[in-house]
Amino acid sequence: MADLDDLREGNNFGLGIATDTQTFHVKGAGNLPWGMKDRLSRIFNPETGRTVMLAFDHGFIMGPTSGLERIDLSILPLIEHTDCLMCTRGILQSVVPPNTNKPVCLRSDAGTTILTELNNNVVIDIQEAIRMNVSAMAIMLSIGDPAFEARTVANLFHAADQASRYNIPVMGVTAVGKDMARDARYFGLASRVCAENGANIVKTYYCEGFEKVVAACPVPIVIAGGKKLPEKEALELCFHAISDGASGVDMGRNIFQSSHPAAMIQAIHGVVHNGLTSDQGYELFNDLSSK
Ligand code: R5P
Repeated sequence: MADLDDLREGNNFGLGIATDTQTFHVKGAGNLPWGMKDRLSRIFNPETGRTVMLAFDHGFIMGPTSGLERIDLSILPLIEHTDCLMCTRGILQSVVPPNTNKPVCLRSDAGTTILTELNNNVVIDIQEAIRMNVSAMAIMLSIGDPAFEARTVANLFHAADQASRYNIPVMGVTAVGKDMARDARYFGLASRVCAENGANIVKTYYCEGFEKVVAACPVPIVIAGGKKLPEKEALELCFHAISDGASGVDMGRNIFQSSHPAAMIQAIHGVVHNGLTSDQGYELFNDLSSK
């Protein structure tokens, strides 16, 4: 029992000061439960509302692709500069130290590799995601693909059903088949389908007219980087996406395949969180990489 000596009467009730009604910094999440908001706040910085997610899940379909041959050597030094780690459970458990104190967006579906037909994926057991204490689950959708659209939409739908029981957000990842047009109409449709089916975050690609994709998506959009570009172009891509309303990036190859990955992720951070233009970001990249 607590010591009852010297019990003090409360006298600091802030009378006359209205209680803060608390708006929430993540788009479309204002009505979600506390646990969801807590996890989203670990991913999206409450001060900027944005995130720099580092994607290094590529090995689950590509094997040891360039830059990810030794994740212990290439990715672990970047962790301090990222807001969220996006990876598979295999790499999380075998390589990522559990004391990094960074949120994890777990790659939560798997099936085939680049050697065969992609997208015939199944979803991880929700208990496994809970055991790894993930802050979000990423599920891929192949919108417009006659063979895999229904399967992958069902995967997202199922994951959202399961994850919402435990207040775990789900990120819909829009895959782009080789026959799809990479335009605002396609990405707008794919992103909206993700959100309508329960995604709390959407990962898609930047395109001309991106502001319409963002406007019509009721949850935050983060962009993938796509294939490796020269650093200046990758920073321009990032700057335009943020200017058009993206809530951040979930970028892989343009960071870990850079000549100077640590400099690159810090430059991306500057554009996403600190309002740097792409030119200023590139200047920062050059400064950091020359040290
Ligand atoms: C896509 O399905 C993969 O999960 C990657 O995480 C994604 O493509 C992002 O990586 P990158 O910036 O290299 O495109």
